[in-house]
Amino acid sequence: MKPSSLTPATEQIIATLDGIGATDLAGDRQAQIAVAAAARRMLARIQTPFEHVLRYQIDAGIAATCQVLLDLGLWKGWTEAGGKDASLVQLVDYCSPVAPDMNLLGRLLRYLASEYVVKEVGVNMYRPTAYSLELGKPTSATTQALLVCDHHWLDSCRHMPAFLAKTGYQEPLDPVQSNYADWTPEKLTLFARMQTNPAYAVSFTGWMAGLVGYKADWTDAYDTKDLVEGFFREREKTNSSSGESSGSGTLLVDIGGSHGLDVSSLLAKHPDLPAGSLVLQDLTHVTAHARVDPDKVTVMAHDFFDPQPVRGEPGLPPARDPARLGRPGLPADPAARVGGHDARTGVSMYQAAVDTGLMFLVSARERTEGQWRLLLKSAGFRVQAIWWPAVSGTEAVIEAELCDGDDDEGEEDGGEDYNNEDEEEE
Ligand SMILES: C[S@@+](CC[C@H](N)C(=O)[O-])C[C@H]1O[C@@H](n2cnc3c(N)ncnc32)[C@H](O)[C@@H]1O
Repeated sequence: MKPSSLTPATEQIIATLDGIGATDLAGDRQAQIAVAAAARRMLARIQTPFEHVLRYQIDAGIAATCQVLLDLGLWKGWTEAGGKDASLVQLVDYCSPVAPDMNLLGRLLRYLASEYVVKEVGVNMYRPTAYSLELGKPTSATTQALLVCDHHWLDSCRHMPAFLAKTGYQEPLDPVQSNYADWTPEKLTLFARMQTNPAYAVSFTGWMAGLVGYKADWTDAYDTKDLVEGFFREREKTNSSSGESSGSGTLLVDIGGSHGLDVSSLLAKHPDLPAGSLVLQDLTHVTAHARVDPDKVTVMAHDFFDPQPVRGEPGLPPARDPARLGRPGLPADPAARVGGHDARTGVSMYQAAVDTGLMFLVSARERTEGQWRLLLKSAGFRVQAIWWPAVSGTEAVIEAELCDGDDDEGEEDGGEDYNNEDEEEE
């Protein structure tokens, strides 16, 4: 073997990095996220300036190539055939309904092998990886995330330079005249366009479900015991004063709750919550794909810009009309609290990517603690507490309640905005 020109110290670093396998961190999702983020940072530090650009080019090329093989049905055919080592000839056979040119497929697979999407185990012989096997399951979050690149993401990124030049480099805050609406042939916003093609909504919802891995469970950060006990006490009082069971009452309305992760987390902690006490709201095409216990959670198609149909319940309507929500001023009622999420300073890669992703897709953004305080205040809420997750870089829970009159709280706390002092954009 040719002697290595690398120093022993460098060889040692490489051996350590190569020695880290998926099984070392298996089961510890937070550790896996932290180590992957460190690996990305290391890459960014040691790469030459030119290699930074190469990295973007390779990532875009790999995403497009994975999409071609998804369109060809190769991932599905390969997974369904048992996901074993396969020759190029077999792999062409797994494609359906169109059999691709063998040279073309060979070149695409070689490219994917260089990024460990598949493993090259011999001349024209390939082994699937955990990643490519997931791509073989049409409903997996991985497959839906890849489709999001095709349906929504890549063109949104691609269009951003032209859009910002056109708008004079203003921060995009108009959800209607968004970058997304500007590039799409239909000139529709993300959520409106999702209603024109079920596949667009399915991919988006599946992708959101996959992002769960980056979210801390809100019921870990926020102790829900008082909330639930208060709910049962209130319910008991109402039932005994009316002399009959008046139904369960509503404990939580998750507004814009997507497929129902947050509602399901609460139910998992308190399985004795009665049917009807939890409500999941989102747009019709999203609630159609809700993944909740239908016996316990009421799934409701509701546009959050319309008046809130669940009365007497708290929440933060983006249209900033607390009166719609029923009872103002519920000082001690734990059920009068709203949940929200925050991005701290020193944000993680996930938070920074979500922030700009929101900008590219819907002219929205992540907020700092101070910005959340100002926004909630302007909607008539007072922040009671902020519950940070054990692992920084994920999302926090903001506990707030409806209040009457002026409240100075929060103004000193970094809620300043470079050019948007009164947080009008929602
Ligand atoms: C970024 S996702 C957040 C989902 C969930 N709350 C979470 O934290 O994972 C935003 C959600 O808001 C929903 N949404 C957007 N516009 C809406 C509207 N006008 N009315 C109701 N839901 C809406 C979307 O369909 C999507 O599920």
